[in-house]
Amino acid sequence: MKREIGKTGVFVFPVGLGAMPLSIQNRPDEVSAVRVLRAAWDAGIQFVDTANVYCLNDDDIGHNERLIKEALEQRPGPEIYIGTKGGLQRPGGRWTNDARPHSLKCACERSLKDLGMDSIFLYQLHAPDPGVPFADSLGALIDLKREGKIQHIGISNVTNEQVIEALHLTRIETIQNRANPFWQKDYRAAGVVELCIAHSMTFLPYSTVGGQNHHHDMTSHEALIRIAKKHEATPYQVVIAWHLAQSPRVIPIPGASRPESIRSSVKAREIILEPTEIDVISALQDV
Ligand SMILES: NC(=O)c1ccc[n+]([C@@H]2O[C@H](COP(=O)([O-])OP(=O)(O)OC[C@H]3O[C@@H](n4cnc5c(N)ncnc54)[C@H](OP(=O)(O)O)[C@@H]3O)[C@@H](O)[C@H]2O)c1
Repeated sequence: MKREIGKTGVFVFPVGLGAMPLSIQNRPDEVSAVRVLRAAWDAGIQFVDTANVYCLNDDDIGHNERLIKEALEQRPGPEIYIGTKGGLQRPGGRWTNDARPHSLKCACERSLKDLGMDSIFLYQLHAPDPGVPFADSLGALIDLKREGKIQHIGISNVTNEQVIEALHLTRIETIQNRANPFWQKDYRAAGVVELCIAHSMTFLPYSTVGGQNHHHDMTSHEALIRIAKKHEATPYQVVIAWHLAQSPRVIPIPGASRPESIRSSVKAREIILEPTEIDVISALQDV
């Protein structure tokens, strides 16, 4: 069953692709990276998460978006939906905030060019900037939507309070926060996912299977190994199935720098976990 992105009327395959690993440290060469995107689409994926800052440093801004443009040119199809982000910079390879309205508008113009699009399906504020009023950053996205440069607005790395503030200002379609079995805050009672359900927004859990530095921890976790064996699956697939079981409002966006990873993630959709198995994973400790 496909899942709707927010209230956009767009229904997509329930697992998306997080494209970040194609453009950061230890990234594959560009031909291999485009192969990963095409493997994702060939496996049925319709939503890709990217950002202007998925790159090595400020001289490389837009690397991930340009890969997507190239892959889309090789396989045109109106059924692929791209969500990108603005609001960060990459000086010297670090991640720093810059969600000033003018910076966001310039970043969006650049993303339009790098993606080769006239209008971006989903534009997400990458993170609130402590130096800029949240309403001012969102105001830039509201202007961009009014101008038709973006079609829908999402926000990332936000608290419940910021979600509520944003909803007072404009329609929000997606919330993207870190979530995995070792980082479950937003799935717990009164977490952000409850707000997503109440307001028909989609939750995009990032670091979906643990993140770049911790995903290997999933493969050595005793409970996940046991559940995976029972389903003839891998711990990664079990974790993605657990995300899917949280709510139809969740679309996991597992990362991949190899075609094998994303092909495997797609198959997680076929795994139906028992309620007791979901409980076991939900009882894992937050880090
Ligand atoms: N909004 C934000 O601030 C923010 C922050 C971080 C990430 N994100 C987004 O969220 C996406 C997901 O996060 P992430 O990429 O950091 O971490 P992740 O989804 O936990 O993935 C980490 C790594 O796990 C491996 N993996 C994933 N699924 C697998 C499978 N089925 N089988 C085997 N290995 C698998 C991949 O390895 P290989 O590379 O070897 O294929 C991947 O690079 C990112 O790509 C990005 O789009 C957003």
